[in-house]
Amino acid sequence: MSKTNIRSDFPILATSSRGKPLTYLDNAATTQKPQCVIDKIGDYYATFNANVHRAAHEMAEKATAELERTRESCAKFLNAKSTNEIIFTKGTTESINLVANSVPLFSEKRRNIVISELEHHSNIVPWHLVAERHNLRVAAIGISDDGELDLNQARSLINDDTALVAITHVSNGLGVVNDVKAICRMAREHGALCLVDGAQSALHFPINVEDIDCDFFVFSGHKLFGPTGIGVLWGRIELLEKMTPWQGGGEMIEKVSITSSTYQQPPFKFEAGTPNIAGAVGLGAALKYLEQIDRDSLGKAQDSLVKNTTERLADMPGIKLIGNPNKRSAIISFLVENSHPNDIGTLLDQQGIALRAGHHCNMPLMDRLGIPGTVRASFSLYNDDSDGDRLISGLEKAQTFL
Ligand code: ALA
Repeated sequence: MSKTNIRSDFPILATSSRGKPLTYLDNAATTQKPQCVIDKIGDYYATFNANVHRAAHEMAEKATAELERTRESCAKFLNAKSTNEIIFTKGTTESINLVANSVPLFSEKRRNIVISELEHHSNIVPWHLVAERHNLRVAAIGISDDGELDLNQARSLINDDTALVAITHVSNGLGVVNDVKAICRMAREHGALCLVDGAQSALHFPINVEDIDCDFFVFSGHKLFGPTGIGVLWGRIELLEKMTPWQGGGEMIEKVSITSSTYQQPPFKFEAGTPNIAGAVGLGAALKYLEQIDRDSLGKAQDSLVKNTTERLADMPGIKLIGNPNKRSAIISFLVENSHPNDIGTLLDQQGIALRAGHHCNMPLMDRLGIPGTVRASFSLYNDDSDGDRLISGLEKAQTFL
């Protein structure tokens, strides 16, 4: 029987903050870790700390096997065809930078990169860097005031001049769930590549890269109960084979002479240097944990908590919800009348309620909405009604200070 009560698996949730019981609603920034992930990382350092793929001893064999087992788990998690399509990176940001630096995007004909106004800076700035270097143009699909992508505009922006479309699955600022399948279809119809940023979706939805029909999918381990500093780039093998390595160094080579080098096949040609072995081992434990819990029931309970909290916030005097998506993930953004988001963040923090306030690395989105930022409550599978209640009562109290 898979687990439906998981809160006690996360030791930090029983601690306090500012002398008050902790209410953790900053899950879009990072999720907390279950004891089994914490233990596994300790176990690696205490009992089989070794480098991978190179040493001739038992601990190295074990470390290599664990790292490669995580690659298998990632392939299964994404429904990838092969483990060769799974590249370990530092996280979503590095995965996107790897694609931006390794995909040959530059043809005489295809001069545009299409993103959206909902993107996190990590899915904007790498494209600016590559556009500056190769004289390409970055254009963004606009949004409605509710935060929905304008699919009609997408249809005209994505055309035969498009080299690549990079789109987020779930907006980290507003919680909007994008129709990434529709966007990838548009890209494919015009022969453009399509990258999906799954940083905010991988925990909340079953991911099937074949069904999405993207070319690249990226996510971070720390947003799905795993450690920081480890993430994944999934790419279609036929593209990975054609891409040039972004970073050079040990382990990614086949042969090196003083004047030239040849490279290994994917995934290793993209993994120069010693990887984050403890991170990969920890991510493996997190994926195993996800298999053991009842994600479906927990996801439904989380959705109803998010819906209920959204409705309660909408009914509160002085609170303005920002974004009103048809399909919302586990993120609620709002403003409190006559106050700056950062001040509300501070007043909630004093009550032990942890959330994020500000622009959320979404400056173009905040400009589009004409606001400096938002207060953002982001939920995970371990949050329960007590967290929603404390957010509401914490806000009521904060309002009395304004
Ligand atoms: N991308 C993370 C967030 O939205 C850090 O907070």
